Amino acid sequence: MAHSFERIVILTGAGLSAESGLSTFRDKDGIWSKVRIEDVATPEAFMRDPQGVLDFYNGRRNNSGGVEPNAAHAALARLEAGHPGEVLTVTQNIDPLHERAGTTNLIHMHGEIVKALCNHCGGREPYDRDLSADDVCRQCGNRGGLRPDVVWFGEMPYQMERIYAALSRCDLFISIGTSGNVYPAAGFVAEARGAGARTVELNLEPSEGISHFDEAIHGKATEIVPVYVEKLLNGG
Ligand code: OAD
Repeated sequence: MAHSFERIVILTGAGLSAESGLSTFRDKDGIWSKVRIEDVATPEAFMRDPQGVLDFYNGRRNNSGGVEPNAAHAALARLEAGHPGEVLTVTQNIDPLHERAGTTNLIHMHGEIVKALCNHCGGREPYDRDLSADDVCRQCGNRGGLRPDVVWFGEMPYQMERIYAALSRCDLFISIGTSGNVYPAAGFVAEARGAGARTVELNLEPSEGISHFDEAIHGKATEIVPVYVEKLLNGG
């Protein structure tokens, strides 16, 4: 069967995991309506109040304990497995739900809650306990530098070169469950469109970047993503 698209880049955000039970950031009861970014999600906050920042992420990791991937994560894994061309999934989410659903060609551009990063040596390791400001890094032996391996405001997201390379050669860009407020991710749609890709938004409501999309489907991710994926797998 002739498929219309060769190379697909998918960008996902908190709205994709919302129906798995994880909070989004900017919706009415979202995370940023309860805590301030500058208190928990910047390098300065960690310097000022390391235990307070660690407690915030310990809480988020504990909340995500029993959470399962939903039908939208599963559909995206089916797309990667079934599409004859390339599919790269770039997620802003720090939860492990894409990989648990079966997606393998995946970039966690804002890091992963299930790993710790040592500010002293840059070492990373899987971590499934609460982090404390007194913890000693197993790799360098220094105390007090262990933090969740998540990207904070003011830090550079991961694997940007690989992401921009993929955006520059993709012919379909799909943005799912993200409000389009946080750069550089919010700029990916313009980048892909500039490179000639078709751009599609799948979100509960129009995002900040809506004018850059050729097509938009608005609804719940678990309802609209599986339908869209089936359409793609059947030839576009
Ligand atoms: P936001 O909370 O900003 O946006 C979530 C989007 O998902 C909104 O546009 C909602 O309308 C939509 N949404 C909510 N429920 C949905 C559902 N069931 N189905 C489909 N869409 C739904 O979250 P992000 O855009 O992911 O970064 O936020 C981007 C970044 O800001 C995060 O990665 C995080 C945050 O600060 C860092 O902490 C560095």
